[in-house]
Amino acid sequence: MKRLLITGASGFLGRRTAAFYHEAYDVFAPARTELDITDRGHVYEVFRQFQPHCVIHCAAVSELDKCEKDPEGSWPVNVDGSRNMAAAAAEFSAKCLLCGSDQVYLGNGRKGPHSEEEPIAPPTVYGVEKKTAEKECLAVNPDCVILRLSWMYDTRTLFPQEHGDFFRTLASRLQSAAPLSYPIHDIRGLTDVNEVIRNFENALELKGGIYNFGSPNHMNTYETVRAMFTALGWDPHRLSKNEEDFAENPRDISMDLRRSSDGGIEFSSTLDALVRNGRTLSS
Ligand SMILES: NC(=O)c1ccc[n+]([C@@H]2O[C@H](COP(=O)([O-])OP(=O)(O)OC[C@H]3O[C@@H](n4cnc5c(N)ncnc54)[C@H](OP(=O)(O)O)[C@@H]3O)[C@@H](O)[C@H]2O)c1
Repeated sequence: MKRLLITGASGFLGRRTAAFYHEAYDVFAPARTELDITDRGHVYEVFRQFQPHCVIHCAAVSELDKCEKDPEGSWPVNVDGSRNMAAAAAEFSAKCLLCGSDQVYLGNGRKGPHSEEEPIAPPTVYGVEKKTAEKECLAVNPDCVILRLSWMYDTRTLFPQEHGDFFRTLASRLQSAAPLSYPIHDIRGLTDVNEVIRNFENALELKGGIYNFGSPNHMNTYETVRAMFTALGWDPHRLSKNEEDFAENPRDISMDLRRSSDGGIEFSSTLDALVRNGRTLSS
């Protein structure tokens, strides 16, 4: 049985990834208290002891606000910690997947769908950290695979403290009289986290480099939710357009998926997956 090391196992993605692969792999998924990725010596010690064949690195400071407010706290985790993981994986010949973000496309002055070759110049601390981590990880380990993830969601909450997401917020608003207002100046992919996790195994076969990794979507968020409601036979009159958010700087961080698709990786479109998951709410 292959040994798989997963970081960030108390987080949204790491917890689900560990649960999904624990039967097919010998999984070691340490919490931060068992492996602080900023501690290079400890990272190497864990590799020495566990001898992983593959690594899925999900640990991060993932909240944009936290990075903006405390870059001294987030940089060592998002950049140095990721580089520690990539370097140790190279040293111990383990294939390493690292989680990047579609946020690196923000502010590059181009319309989506964005491809991996485009120049990027993210204006946020989180985006700069993700961009720098990509560069530094590939420098120490050219065989590592960096996956630019879009905003992920699940239909289930696994742990009371985990952060919310697009789908579960929509589901809870549907239960109440809360307004359902979505931006028209915002285009991005929204991805079912379970598709990301299933596709990790195929991503382990990719050659080193950067890959967009999530559901394609060409519609703005209001249009996406409206199309979902229409497909499910729900009343679209509950929805309203949010015309203010992103009006001055329209956001389009939608991704071109051709490179990962050429590598044999497929995602449902954002709309198809939302409709499929939306059926669990209506039934
Ligand atoms: N969620 C999304 O929609 C999304 C979208 C695009 C990209 N991503 C990227 O995908 C990855 C996973 O995201 P997520 O949503 O699962 O994040 P998350 O829920 O915030 O989980 C992050 C995990 O990292 C751990 N961690 C933080 N500092 C650490 C350290 N020094 N050493 C070891 N572990 C540490 C946290 O542990 P504690 O709980 O103990 O703090 C937590 O388990 C991240 O790289 C994120 O940037 C996520």
